[in-house]
Amino acid sequence: MSQQLRQDGSLRHLITLEGLDRTLLERLLDRAQTYVRTLDERPINAQLLRGITVANLFGEPSTRTRASFELAARRLGAEVLNLEVHLSSRTKGETILDTVYTLQAMHLDVLVLREAEPGVPALVAAHVAPHVSVVSAGEAHLSHPTQGLLDALTIRQRKGDLRRLKVAIVGDIEHSRVARSAWHALATLGTGEIRIVAPPAFMPGPADFAGCARHETIDAGIRGADVIMMLRIQKERMAAVSVPDAQTYFSQFGLSSERLTLAARDAIVMHPGPMNRGIEIQSEVADGPQSVILQQVSNGVAVRMAVLEAVTRRR
Ligand code: NCD
Repeated sequence: MSQQLRQDGSLRHLITLEGLDRTLLERLLDRAQTYVRTLDERPINAQLLRGITVANLFGEPSTRTRASFELAARRLGAEVLNLEVHLSSRTKGETILDTVYTLQAMHLDVLVLREAEPGVPALVAAHVAPHVSVVSAGEAHLSHPTQGLLDALTIRQRKGDLRRLKVAIVGDIEHSRVARSAWHALATLGTGEIRIVAPPAFMPGPADFAGCARHETIDAGIRGADVIMMLRIQKERMAAVSVPDAQTYFSQFGLSSERLTLAARDAIVMHPGPMNRGIEIQSEVADGPQSVILQQVSNGVAVRMAVLEAVTRRR
């Protein structure tokens, strides 16, 4: 999707990581790394985005993504507007574009958008004023670019060179935007081996996830892996009848501490959150020494700072 880039090659919108080149991704990660602070340090308090207004427009539930976009914007000095779509005039029949034009009339620079319907971020990006950037905070099952970046940053921090790594993405791959964006980022960054590990019902079609190894049992999928990324079952994206029963799913596909011993001894365990403990992941693993789940959350703020800075840079 070339419309994400300006003519000079800089990032104007961030809708998908697909098609962005390695240099651009590495620059974003390098910049994000400069914003990382340990929890006993004061977070960044800068004025780089002073005078910039960021609106968060979320049409689906969110805790981490929304909070971190807001903190990222504020810590760089931007003004932030949060709109809950279910409380906005869209429930009165206003179209997304009219909502966007309305916000734009109040002087808006960045629109952070989470949408259940595919294609909406690109549609909005095609209609906003030239100075406005659209950043996706999750689009249907298709894309969650800042999540892909924060996952890549976390792996890079813990494991260094991605070329030697075996990364297993496990669970409901078919309905997961997190899996797709992680795959885009990790493939572009030259990851040694990317495995998608899912029961047949959650395995995407053969045209999707090109180049990934496929496994239909978790034991085979995580064997020798350096990184295990667990995913929540996306119940909201499937008919109620096809949602597996929790106990059966855990016994067949959940990450228990016993199973974790199949992976590399120093393997890290990731999860984008929200977790369903006892379904895709055992609490002992989620809270255990190999878990980097809260490091992912911390990195989310840093990555979103870097993205907001990148899309507003030329102003
Ligand atoms: C994910 C999402 O919304 O795509 N959460 C997140 O942004 N960290 C994953 C999920 O909902 O399972």
